[in-house]
Amino acid sequence: MGRDNRHAHQRIPAVAVLPQGLEEAGAQELIDLGAKAVRPLRRAAAFEADMACLYRLHLQCRLPFRLLRELSRFPCDGRDSLYHGVQDSVDWERWLHPSMSFRVDATGSAQGLNHSHYSALQVKNAIVDRQRELWGERSSIDLEEPDLHLHLHLGRGEAVLSLDGCGGSLHRRGYRAAMGAAPLKENLAAGLIRLTGWDGTTPLVDPLCGSGTLLIEAASLARGQSPGLERTFSLEGWADFDAELWRDELERARRRSQPQQPSAPILGWEQDADIAEQARSNVAAAGLEESITINTGDFRDLSLPAGPGMVVCNPPYGVRIGAEDELETLYGDLAQVVKREASGWEFWLLSGNPAVTGALRMKASRRIPISNGGIDCRWLHYQVR
Ligand SMILES: C[S@@+](CC[C@H](N)C(=O)[O-])C[C@H]1O[C@@H](n2cnc3c(N)ncnc32)[C@H](O)[C@@H]1O
Repeated sequence: MGRDNRHAHQRIPAVAVLPQGLEEAGAQELIDLGAKAVRPLRRAAAFEADMACLYRLHLQCRLPFRLLRELSRFPCDGRDSLYHGVQDSVDWERWLHPSMSFRVDATGSAQGLNHSHYSALQVKNAIVDRQRELWGERSSIDLEEPDLHLHLHLGRGEAVLSLDGCGGSLHRRGYRAAMGAAPLKENLAAGLIRLTGWDGTTPLVDPLCGSGTLLIEAASLARGQSPGLERTFSLEGWADFDAELWRDELERARRRSQPQQPSAPILGWEQDADIAEQARSNVAAAGLEESITINTGDFRDLSLPAGPGMVVCNPPYGVRIGAEDELETLYGDLAQVVKREASGWEFWLLSGNPAVTGALRMKASRRIPISNGGIDCRWLHYQVR
């Protein structure tokens, strides 16, 4: 479809869905990429963007799970108003031909609509009934790879119907076939790195790197890689998809991703040889072999490059009974290594267990609450003396 200049600069209301604790950082990322009227919410940020910016966010954002483009908004006080609102507020003849598949997800609640599965079903029924009136046939549902991915949010007496243009959660970058043990989600790791303020000019070290997620997200950030370049986005099937504008944004994202100056050393240690090997294959899949070195070994034996730089880590924090003594020793040793090797460096640690973090016997200068897959964690900052 060609460029429709009437709408190219129209501001579209949208929402970025974010990990809890990364709302402010996620809002800042949206602003940096050109979004307007950005407002952090709980686990999300609302914003407005013209179509070029919306495309750019899909290609370049690191922190959101998904981006939801508002299609319509209408008052909703129950089942009937939801059904009729869905039918009347969107030109379904334009957006969803029966040859296209779709899926609906729902969040929030309204009177008589307390189960999101039921609300989603109500939206689906309204749409397929409308399609039967228009064409005498209906779309099929595809939960895996729908042509149109709809999202309903209910709250404050309103329904907001949006399109998810991502085609699967954005945190799956595609480089991580191998997962190690208890890996961080890629967007969470990117957010943690963003919170450190690391700018790529000083060494970055993860002494317990697992599958290497923190290191890969850091190196990708330092090299200006756009995480979305290799993805397929369902927005390419939208009725108003502007292929020329999309190509412009793809080109812009590619130009940013050109390998830049070699960055400072980015190093990881992992004691489990299999997991270290997985980390290396993830690094290779991300195209970052020149930027990242993974060492197999115990962090107690590490030696650091000339600094100062930054140590980041996500040590095990264990839920196994009886493991706490072992963990206290590990945390105590980690503090000793950091003090011995990284004097003058900054040290960031993701803690999911305050009892074992106490074994560091170091005083954090910042404690940022972060939810890691539902576990209440703290991203702790220490200035190593
Ligand atoms: C929670 S995982 C890190 C996950 C990582 N952030 C990721 O996204 O894959 C902790 C890792 O520390 C490693 N580890 C535990 N003790 C270690 C030690 N003494 N030296 C080096 N690595 C160690 C474990 O094998 C495990 O892979």
